[in-house]
Amino acid sequence: MANVSPVLSIVRDEPASAAIEVAGLTHVYDGRDGKVPALTDIAMTVGAGRFVVIVGPSGCGKTSLLMMMAGLRHQTSGTIRIQGRPIDNPDPERVGVVFQEASLFPWLTALDNIEFPLALRHAPKAERAERANQMLNLVGLQGFGARYPHELSGGMKQRVSIARGLVQDPPVLLMDEPFAALDEQTRMTMGHELLRIWSQTAKTVVFVTHSLTEAVYLADEVLVMSARPGRIIGRIAINLPRPRTYEMMATDIFGCLRDRIWQQIRKEG
Ligand SMILES: Nc1ncnc2c1ncn2[C@@H]1O[C@H](COP(=O)(O)OP(=O)(O)OP(=O)(O)O)[C@@H](O)[C@H]1O
Ligand SMILES: [Mg+2]
Repeated sequence: MANVSPVLSIVRDEPASAAIEVAGLTHVYDGRDGKVPALTDIAMTVGAGRFVVIVGPSGCGKTSLLMMMAGLRHQTSGTIRIQGRPIDNPDPERVGVVFQEASLFPWLTALDNIEFPLALRHAPKAERAERANQMLNLVGLQGFGARYPHELSGGMKQRVSIARGLVQDPPVLLMDEPFAALDEQTRMTMGHELLRIWSQTAKTVVFVTHSLTEAVYLADEVLVMSARPGRIIGRIAINLPRPRTYEMMATDIFGCLRDRIWQQIRKEG
């Protein structure tokens, strides 16, 4: 008889250490008209350094899930561990967050917006400035540090937001439709830029989008959620080589992957 452990056959292609572990997570909102079951029985593991994209119909609980992973909202039941520890409150040194709207302070310059999380924890001024400048360069905004948000384009504002999310060097970055308000061309460029930043910083990223093209382009793995109450109904590995290129979008395999995600969404949506 062949000496093969049955365990070997179920080993998945996951890195050894998990950056994010969600188990048995359920959430019910106390809405104005009664209870709103938003999420049910969510289980997911994201390996360190992986880029995971979540897609699903509007209102299925994607933002709620991200808020819980960021410690900004408490789930009704279940556990979330980030870097091996539960998360109950915002912890910007563990988790950075970038939302759809750039949400920058209009009265602060780009550089001061990026520095803001460091100023909150009273980091020394010289260290703050150095770190913020590094982040400004990383997101390709050299020379724009003194500009105020109203002097920046939508794409530039989102770059500032990403820089702010990264300034404390958190191992995990959560992004909720960060490019949704941008035109298609800027959006594609930003996705590409994000992959460059990700490959330079080795973060674990969870990224929510409604764009299936964006999902396939960015992800190592796409998680598909059902309509509310949201459950994870599909996991699709995106085994396209990296670095990703725009040309890949025109390939059959890219189209097949996008179609598989679409079929999953349609089935339950
Ligand atoms: N504070 C709240 N009180 C009551 N219900 C809420 C609250 N926040 C969200 N919900 C409800 O929970 C569900 C999930 O909302 P959530 O914003 O997480 O969805 P989403 O997947 O991010 O949607 P979208 O794709 O439109 O951004 C929705 O039905 C929403 O109406
Ligand atoms: Mg949302």
